[in-house]
Amino acid sequence: MLWTELLKKDHEITERVLAAAEKAFAMKGGPTNALIANLLDYVTHYADRCHNQKEEQHLFPLIEQRGIPRHGGPLAVMLAEHEQAKELLAQIAPLGEAVLKGDRTKLADLGKIFSDYAALLKSHYWKENDILYPMAMQAMRPGDAEAVVKGIEALESSLGAGIRERYYALAETIIKSVDLEDLAYGLDRETLAAMLNTLPIELSFVDADDTVRYFSHEHGEKIFGRTRGAIGTKVQNCHPQKSVHMVNQILADFKAGKREVAEFWIEMGPRKIHIRYFPVRNKEGRYLGCMETVQDIAPIQKLTGQKRLLDTP
Ligand SMILES: [Fe+2]
Ligand SMILES: [Fe+2]
Repeated sequence: MLWTELLKKDHEITERVLAAAEKAFAMKGGPTNALIANLLDYVTHYADRCHNQKEEQHLFPLIEQRGIPRHGGPLAVMLAEHEQAKELLAQIAPLGEAVLKGDRTKLADLGKIFSDYAALLKSHYWKENDILYPMAMQAMRPGDAEAVVKGIEALESSLGAGIRERYYALAETIIKSVDLEDLAYGLDRETLAAMLNTLPIELSFVDADDTVRYFSHEHGEKIFGRTRGAIGTKVQNCHPQKSVHMVNQILADFKAGKREVAEFWIEMGPRKIHIRYFPVRNKEGRYLGCMETVQDIAPIQKLTGQKRLLDTP
């Protein structure tokens, strides 16, 4: 590959990372800790330490020798912007670390400085792609272009074999994680609902305020009949008075983080009904609500030995 292709590819990947991160900052709740950790790693160790160093060590000195002055003109602007990027990173890193340690109050400041950093990089990459690199190519003598590629490769191996491939993969992880959260794991609502209705387990969900929000298998046969009218009502109103204290105890335990499951099993004719309640928490551990699963486990209890062959439908 030509040196321009190598460096422009870095720009393109980094711009996609920046766009994904900005989107995550704009989303309700902001970026997850996993995303922040990946982002800090990427901008510090790749965009700054690897990409900018390729230019500072192997491109800029060479074109300076070919007559493009280091002081005044585009080269000086590029170097000054590398410094500005470093200064912003020096502010981003401690804020990011604070958020990772649990201080979400720093998230807004982090988002603001990150957006300055992203704006700087975007305009910097544009100037390099459209002004500095063409100017550098004009100034180069035979053999110079190959020397820059060799320099880029040497710098990358000095930072660890396969560094570019590793950070490009991390970039994809960052980009995908934002898209996934946006699109409910890449599934549209119809598919997601159909999948939940296909589970051999009936699900229902009560939110953090104890309001019934969802139940599966609405149109299929259910172990416990439920009506749409239950949606939007308090869960305490959907249970016989004598069991309300138990419902409240389970929910209180879940909210306090004292219990990870509550389970019961009852017999209904030939069926053995397994009923379980689980606290649903987000990645940061915040309580989102309670999920109930109801399953007839009688057929499962009867399984013995093994079945490894497909039967005829
Ligand atoms: Fe640069
Ligand atoms: Fe660059």
